[in-house]
Amino acid sequence: MNRKPIVGISMKTYQNNYAQALAYTNSLIHKVGSEKDLDLMYFPSIGLLYSLAQAVNASSLQFGAQNIGTMVNGAQTGEFSLEILKEINGKYVELGHAERINLMNEDYNMIATKLKITLENNLIPVLCIGESTRFEEEEELEKELTRQLKNCLEKSLLMDLNSLIIAYEPIWAIGAKESADPKYIWKSHRIIRKILKKIISEESANNIRIIYGGSVSKETTPNIIASEDVDGVFVGRFGHDPDNFAEIVRIVEGVKNK
Ligand code: PGA
Repeated sequence: MNRKPIVGISMKTYQNNYAQALAYTNSLIHKVGSEKDLDLMYFPSIGLLYSLAQAVNASSLQFGAQNIGTMVNGAQTGEFSLEILKEINGKYVELGHAERINLMNEDYNMIATKLKITLENNLIPVLCIGESTRFEEEEELEKELTRQLKNCLEKSLLMDLNSLIIAYEPIWAIGAKESADPKYIWKSHRIIRKILKKIISEESANNIRIIYGGSVSKETTPNIIASEDVDGVFVGRFGHDPDNFAEIVRIVEGVKNK
């Protein structure tokens, strides 16, 4: 299977000071900004997207927005329009993160609409899914992931979904001390690909990249990505140090492009 590996980092709203964010961005660019053998997604604190654009666009890093409004243009006070992302050459839209569902009351209907308008505007959706507690029973896990995928993809099933990226982020492993254990991650990725085959098509399921997120660190990355169903990682806190993020990128690049 020829899926390009991918590593992302989201700063959530941890880094909101322009000078600090620019220094961090420049450091990422210096350390990994000329990588060509894998895709790099960078999701800064959303209000800083515009001001960091020039620096990012001169590198191989690509921007993403952590959220968009359900309308491309119109009366949605306080929302972030994907038109802005397009204007600054952004590429990725993160959707369905557990924090947006749990803290901002985002529902599947909204996520499905956002996914549809993302595809219609030729941007790449990074759809986060994941169960809230660890399931020992494979059937239960499959049922829950099927429910989430069906709901989120509901409005896009007739569209070309080959560019879609799924971020498997078990909620119980977000903000934790460590990532979920590799075997559990591999199993979940295998299940997700099986579900995609059923609800979309064999071909798309083989093209869609599935990455893992949830307390990813340079220590846990090598085992996480050892399965061929894991196409990369989505990093949070443990990438706040640019050296750690660069190390994670190097590990993924080395293992996947062997
Ligand atoms: P974390 O964040 O690595 O800080 O747990 C991951 C995420 O929410 O994507």
